[in-house]
Amino acid sequence: MHTISDYQGYFVEYLSKKVVTKEPKNLYEPMSYILNLGGKRLRPILTLMACEIFDGSYKKALDAALAIEIFHNFSLIHDDIMDAAPLRRGKETVHEKWDVNTGILSGDAMLINAYQLFENYEDSVFKELAKLFTKTAMEVCEGQQYDIDFETRDDVVISEYIKMIEYKTAVLVGAAMKMGAIVASAPEKCRSLIYDFGRLLGLAFQLQDDYLDAFGDPKTFGKQVGGDIIENKKTILYLKALEFANEDEQKQLIGLFSLNPDDPSEKINTVTHLFETTGAKEQTRLEIENYTNKAFIVLENLPIGDDKKKRLRMFGEQLMNRSV
Ligand code: IPE
Ligand code: IPE
Ligand code: MG
Ligand code: MG
Ligand code: MG
Repeated sequence: MHTISDYQGYFVEYLSKKVVTKEPKNLYEPMSYILNLGGKRLRPILTLMACEIFDGSYKKALDAALAIEIFHNFSLIHDDIMDAAPLRRGKETVHEKWDVNTGILSGDAMLINAYQLFENYEDSVFKELAKLFTKTAMEVCEGQQYDIDFETRDDVVISEYIKMIEYKTAVLVGAAMKMGAIVASAPEKCRSLIYDFGRLLGLAFQLQDDYLDAFGDPKTFGKQVGGDIIENKKTILYLKALEFANEDEQKQLIGLFSLNPDDPSEKINTVTHLFETTGAKEQTRLEIENYTNKAFIVLENLPIGDDKKKRLRMFGEQLMNRSV
């Protein structure tokens, strides 16, 4: 096994070799632009790591890891269009730097490119990877549609929210890990346990993403702080705030989340304040911990050495405390 920063290094080196800009430039440049903006590389790291946890060589998992990262970045280009987001990883989003049409088509090409990478595997592995990928990618679309549908609903409940984030975010984290296990030819039981570990960690990850969207440091966060409030996203913070608010505060929140003011700064301030005073901020921290612990419980059943379990735990703990 290697360290997290080793895996990140191997992955980025592979990515630089494989992602090249060719003609037509307006199709391929946005692709290398977004892929080279950096990012945490969480999902590909997990693919490489999972492969080695089940005694495969990380090298065999590089194409699957790249497919996952390209798919993730494709989903970000389209997500930023859908969320009208100006910033990604501290830089202009693709649709701002180019335009919406460019973002749509470059994104499409990236989705196809992700699929193409599975062709580098022998038939039986190809089939398994492609099957898992298809199922996961369809769920991501479903999650993204729920996310958008929820913007204009005022009766979203926590269980619907959890299902939405499971689909838009968590299943891809689970799939990233399961792909590593597939490449390593791990037994079915291990594949499904590592998927579940990743899925639960992915839920905690999206809760943390929602938290940072309101409470991240604008200097380091890399995205527009308050973006979810501007877009009336029914995040965990909003739903917990509604749950714990008094009647007046509930009316105020529901009212604010039906508006799209030209200058959103006052709305952002009021809502952020309500997230704090209602206790939603604290409750969200607890839920992040809760889902991370659920992931750790799954680890107990995995037939792998304690040192490997410890590595996975450390990774989960780091994610829970991240600021980007
Ligand atoms: C952002 O993902 C989108 C979510 C699913 C929350 P990341 O936070 O992994 O983004 P990067 O790749 O590190 O920039
Ligand atoms: C993104 O959720 C999920 C996908 C891209 C599929 P968000 O919309 O919360 O992600 P960020 O905050 O823009 O990164
Ligand atoms: Mg977004
Ligand atoms: Mg979104
Ligand atoms: Mg977000």
